[in-house]
This record gives sequence, structure tokens and C-alpha cells, in this order.
Amino acid sequence: MSTRPKILVTSATGKTGTPTVLQLLEKGFPVRAFVRRLDRRSEALESAGAEIFIGNQYSISDMRAAMVGVKRAYQCAPAAPNPLYFYAAFTAAAYEANLEHVVTLGQWLSSADHHSPMTRSVYMGEILTKMRPEMTVTTINVGWFADNYMNGLDVAAQLGVFSMPLGDGNIKKNAAPSNEDIASVAVGALIDPDTHAGKTYRPTGPELISPNEIAAAMGKALGRTVKYQDISEKMLLKAFKARGSQVAAADYSEAGVYQIKLYAEEYRRGAFAVNAPTRDVKTVGGRMPESFESIASRYVANRPDLKPSISGKLNALAGFLKILVTRAPDIADIEAQNDFVMLKSPTFCLDDAEWRETHQPTDLKLVPGKVA
Ligand SMILES: NC(=O)c1ccc[n+]([C@@H]2O[C@H](COP(=O)([O-])OP(=O)(O)OC[C@H]3O[C@@H](n4cnc5c(N)ncnc54)[C@H](OP(=O)(O)O)[C@@H]3O)[C@@H](O)[C@H]2O)c1
Repeated sequence: MSTRPKILVTSATGKTGTPTVLQLLEKGFPVRAFVRRLDRRSEALESAGAEIFIGNQYSISDMRAAMVGVKRAYQCAPAAPNPLYFYAAFTAAAYEANLEHVVTLGQWLSSADHHSPMTRSVYMGEILTKMRPEMTVTTINVGWFADNYMNGLDVAAQLGVFSMPLGDGNIKKNAAPSNEDIASVAVGALIDPDTHAGKTYRPTGPELISPNEIAAAMGKALGRTVKYQDISEKMLLKAFKARGSQVAAADYSEAGVYQIKLYAEEYRRGAFAVNAPTRDVKTVGGRMPESFESIASRYVANRPDLKPSISGKLNALAGFLKILVTRAPDIADIEAQNDFVMLKSPTFCLDDAEWRETHQPTDLKLVPGKVA
């Protein structure tokens, strides 16, 4: 029997939850994986050795039950619908269970007066999580994941275009981390609380890259030329809406799409470029951060359906036509329907003096160009 402490991983079938579970198991730590339901993803975690806990992460009773016998946890709020409620349920249950150490997935943009209700929730959630002095916390303030670009792989494979509202194609605005590299930092902090308690990390990829470089890397992975095309926010919203009606309702949430619009604006403004890249994947995660080209190649290798074909091309063109005829969601309507708390003077990060002051590049972390 392992003498290592059992670690609870919330959002265990998600992008960072799954590699966190797998890497902890590889290091010999017993893991309880919190999942919403049994499916292919939970089966994969179980066959890797995780104990599966099925429940609702927004229910304090389920969270209580999930924390029985554990002292450490990875806290990962699902992006929607109400992250603050998740933080409250988690923190209340952690208080009752006397948890000793938590690694929380925050946001690089996290700030009190942000335009995004999600980002403001993350900011308040971090404060809630840190309120009990007996429990140590490590915060992972990650920026825009590399995974976000992979939504564009199908169209890139068939039509040779990578379309996103990321602004000028030549400007290097993000050092995108892989899900696995983010998880490596979470795992480093979960297995060694003494070293990482109270610290904040920001995993990044090895270098800042531009939208044109992202398109070129996708092209290399796909074995064809891919060109970046800057699109309007309206087009992005139409694309999500058009796609949403084809897939499960859970994949399309207006509240979620509303956040993406705001994050794309932060991207164009350059907030994700501040203080990037960092050395955190290397120093905390114990591995070299993966390049975007390598990440894209892995995704393509796992998607044999991406091979260009006449039917694939026709599908992509039909999807494009559908986007053109789809009416853009009405933002004012989304704000009203979702009952968002609207601030009088919300800010984006680079206009926020408090955010700028707390996100200054430091000599320790800033490595111009590439991670050494
Ligand atoms: N994407 C980015 O660029 C980015 C950047 C910075 C920070 N973040 C942060 O990343 C976090 C999301 O992390 P992630 O991308 O690793 O997660 P994710 O892939 O969105 O996964 C969320 C997981 O939570 C599960 N879940 C949702 N509601 C549940 C419920 N009521 N009960 C039980 N399970 C539930 C989902 O299960 P099902 O799949 O079965 O529904 C899914 O496995 C957010 O807090 C966000 O602020 C993201």
C-alpha cells in the first residue's frame, strides 16, 4: 500500500484535470478523480489506476464525500456556468475536511474589476481559497492555452485557413502552454507543498509566437500550407453559434462564448504577452516546455479524420456557409439573460493599474526569447 497521501483532482476529465491525474499516478501518488459521469474518459483514468468519484462539483454534499480521507487537492473550476459557486462549495468542504494543501487553477487575467464575470469569479475564488491560514495554497495563473487554437484544426486541414480574432498576424502575443505542461506545474506543487506553498506560477510555452507562426506550425503538422486570417469578433460569435447547434448543448453556452469574446480582446491588447515566457514548467514541472509545433503535431497525430478529402472539404465549406447565414448572438441579450453582475467601470488588464503592478516582469522569471 502506498504511504503517499491520496490527492483529490477536481474536473478530472477536463483538459488539465486528466493529465494531472495521469502524472500523479505515474509518480506513485494515489488519486481520487472527481468526474461528472462514467464514460470513456473516466474509464481511461480508472484503468490508469485512479479511484473514480462520481458527483456534482457544485454540490457541497458531493464535495464533502469526495474529500473524505484526502488532505491535498487540485482545484479546477469548470469554465461555466457559475465558477464562484464551485469555489464556495470547494472551500466550505475543504474547511470541514481540514485539507492541508490545495493547488488552484487561476487565470493570468485574474482581477477584481475585469469585464469578464468569469475572471472576476476566479479572482474572488482565489481569495476564498486562501482565507484559511491552516491550509496552504499554490496558485497557477495560466494564460491562453495552446488547446484553444485546436478548434481551428478541422478548417485548417480542409481549407488551409486558421481563422481567429487575434489581430495582426505578425505580432507575437502568446507563449501558449500545453495542457500537459500546465498539469506538470500543478503536479510539482501537489507533491511538494513545503517548496511550493504560497507561491504563484504561470506555466507558458517556450516562446512567444504570432498568429502567423501558429498557422505555419499547424500547416507543418498537417502537411499543407495554412494561412492565418484575422476575423471580427462578430464572426467568432457566429461561428460558435453555428457550431453549437450541431453539437451537444453543453458544448455551446452563451455565457461561455461571451467570455471568449472578452479573452480575444485581451489577446489583441497584448495581456498574454506580458511576462512571457516563464521558466515555471521547467523549474516546477521538471520538464522542458513543449513547443507549439510539437503540441499541434500531437493533436494531428490523434486525429486521423483530419486528412484532406473531398467530403471533408465540402463539410468545411458547408460549415463556413452556415456561419455566414447565422445571426450573431446579441451580447446585450446574453448579458441580460445570464443575469451577469455588470460593473460601472470594468477594465481590461493593461488599463488596470492594480493588475499591472502585480503582473510586472521580474528578473527571476522573464527570459526574453526562449526558455534557457
Ligand atoms: N482555456 C484557457 O485558455 C484558460 C486560460 C486560463 C485559465 N483557464 C481556467 O481553466 C479552468 C478550466 O480548466 P480546464 O480547461 O482544465 O477544464 P475543462 O476542460 O473545462 O473541464 C471541466 C471539467 O469539469 C467537469 N464538470 C463540469 N461541471 C461539473 C459538475 N457540475 N460536476 C462535476 N464535474 C463537472 C467537466 O465534465 P464534463 O466534460 O463531463 O462536462 C469537465 O471534465 C477554468 O477555471 C478557467 O478559468 C482556462
